Amino acid sequence: MKNRLARIIKPYNNRALMLAVDHGYFLGPTEKLETPRNVIAPLLKYCDSLMLTRGIQRTSVPTNTNVPMVLRVSGGTSIIGEDLSQENITVSIQDAINLNASALAMSIFVGSKYEYQTISNLGKLVNEAHQYGMPVLAVTAVGKDLGKDARYLSLACRIAAEQGAHIVKTYYCNDFEKVVQSCPVPIIVAGGKKIPEQDALQLTHNAISGGAVGVDMGRNIWQSEHPIAMIRAVRSIVHGNSNVEQAYDMYKQQSDKHAKKDTPDSKDSANHKSQEQKK
Ligand code: 5RP
Repeated sequence: MKNRLARIIKPYNNRALMLAVDHGYFLGPTEKLETPRNVIAPLLKYCDSLMLTRGIQRTSVPTNTNVPMVLRVSGGTSIIGEDLSQENITVSIQDAINLNASALAMSIFVGSKYEYQTISNLGKLVNEAHQYGMPVLAVTAVGKDLGKDARYLSLACRIAAEQGAHIVKTYYCNDFEKVVQSCPVPIIVAGGKKIPEQDALQLTHNAISGGAVGVDMGRNIWQSEHPIAMIRAVRSIVHGNSNVEQAYDMYKQQSDKHAKKDTPDSKDSANHKSQEQKK
């Protein structure tokens, strides 16, 4: 369990950069993630872990990667269906182990019609995963009619932790520190809808300053005009302690570089602390 968690939240600084590419599980071919293989490959070396579904892992991630997989195991609804909150567990623990998952991820919909189903599924998943030393990341998904305020998110995060989740993913909000303080397990912040790059970097910085271990970011990376530049800038905040200005400068510099030269700098590796410091 600890070994798997240490793959996701780096022990040397207690930080995590998770690249989220699981959106298709209810959104279908999400804009700019239509061909996941092309999106994932160039970004892999800059993230600490990848959040994805088994279908995307099997079809679109190089099998020889050493990037840890946070496997989404909940689903069953679609954006055009009746109620997004009616999720169930769709992947067996055996299949997750077969895919060499480092953690399982599922959504809970606190305050929704299917609150009971999703929260009790979380408890059951933790029961099962615990037997294999497998961490569970709970995603506090927000229903249409519920706000993303500290009161609601504190409730959702705390309930996830009480059910035994090892990491909780939630949204950044005003008074975010209160959400972190009342949740006894690490919190990772979702990026949310695409916003201007500088604002997404500010969100990352705010999340870290507010006590999150890192970000689980998707659209604000791969929907950016320059995904590699963006993930590197986000990484410089999460692991290099850059401020927003420094990170945005990095984004602009790297955008220019990648606009001129399509392939990433092959010397660049984001997986080692000393290399982080140089950056
Ligand atoms: C979808 C998810 C995503 O992984 C999560 O929202 C992070 O992605 P983004 O930064 O695009 O919001 O859980 O349900």
